[in-house]
Amino acid sequence: MNRLYSFFLALLLLLACSACVGRAAAPDPAPGQAAPLDAAAAQPPEPEEVPEEEPPAPPEPEEPYVRVIDPAKPMVALTFDDGPDAACSDQILDILEEHHALATFFEVGRNVAACPEPVGRMVELGCEVGSHSNAHKDLSKLKKSSLLRDLDTADEAFALAGAPAPLLVRPPYGAVNKTVKTATGRAMVTWTVDTEDWRSRDAQKVIDYVQNYGALDGEIILMHSIYESTVEAVRVLVPWLQEQGYQLVTVTELMAYYYGELPQPDHFYGYTYFANHGRTDAPIELPSMYLPEEEPEAPPAAGQEQSPDPVPDAPDASDTPDVPPEPFDPTGIIAVSAPDPEPEEAPEPPAGEASDPLPPAEPPAPPQEEPEKPAKQSQDAKPVSPSVSVPNPAMFYP
Ligand code: NI
Repeated sequence: MNRLYSFFLALLLLLACSACVGRAAAPDPAPGQAAPLDAAAAQPPEPEEVPEEEPPAPPEPEEPYVRVIDPAKPMVALTFDDGPDAACSDQILDILEEHHALATFFEVGRNVAACPEPVGRMVELGCEVGSHSNAHKDLSKLKKSSLLRDLDTADEAFALAGAPAPLLVRPPYGAVNKTVKTATGRAMVTWTVDTEDWRSRDAQKVIDYVQNYGALDGEIILMHSIYESTVEAVRVLVPWLQEQGYQLVTVTELMAYYYGELPQPDHFYGYTYFANHGRTDAPIELPSMYLPEEEPEAPPAAGQEQSPDPVPDAPDASDTPDVPPEPFDPTGIIAVSAPDPEPEEAPEPPAGEASDPLPPAEPPAPPQEEPEKPAKQSQDAKPVSPSVSVPNPAMFYP
């Protein structure tokens, strides 16, 4: 009897085991999935069909951005003086690059020698690099030989940094005399909208000023590429200007497409010029030398030193100044000890403009929230002697 019992027990065990094995062969249903109801369903599922991996669609060839300026549409030239600055210049270039915008940088030669990298990048992006002299002196106070030496020294720094010798020069403080305007072999250009970013160092004030200025078509906006506040203003203004329909162009592009002429050596383009000229009917096609396709020379490696600035220019008895009534004023160079330096380009309009016989009639200003008048008006209204010395914070180079 015991043997019979053992036999059945063994048989039961055997059956139980085979059931287990059969079951184990079938994969457990995935959580949440109903268990198979019949044997067929218990079969291991066919290996999941690996979806025929379609080869990833080849990325659409990225259309290279083609910058096209429509001379018939509004345009503005943003300009930045006093750089390059190791921190701020690149940030401004980042913003411009992101928005496919260009600007003009009027750089100080000795700053370029100390910090050449941003200049190479400006050229690469197609921005325009102009000269702001080598030592940021009041050029109207220099003898002609000193003036030319200063501009040539700056050009050497530009060449080392990978920029061609600039035709455009923005005279520091906007100060010019006849020699500066007509005898340097360069084209002197000032601005028409002064954001006074150096004075406020307040991004919102700069933004408000530009946004409330009124029509900006054909204007040249002055800023400085050495202030974080200016960087923050640019971050807002570049997309805002584009949303308003303005094309952001270089000064030379503005001259060609809006004013219908190319900057000429020994010419001065100041308030009077811009106020007396409107949009041209005959925009000029920029010659290839102005277009950005050219491969820039590589800027010198970081840390590469350039020869130090030459000894400050001294009055040269053999050099006849063009403006005799003006005694040489050393304070015009820089008041380094000035406790509360007031920046440049401040209250002083392009000096030569003051002597222009017929200040142009200005159209009524658009309503503005700020009590300040547009720079164009206020500056034209008051003649300022070019001999006024304005201590300049830009002289305290970062
Ligand atoms: Ni300056």
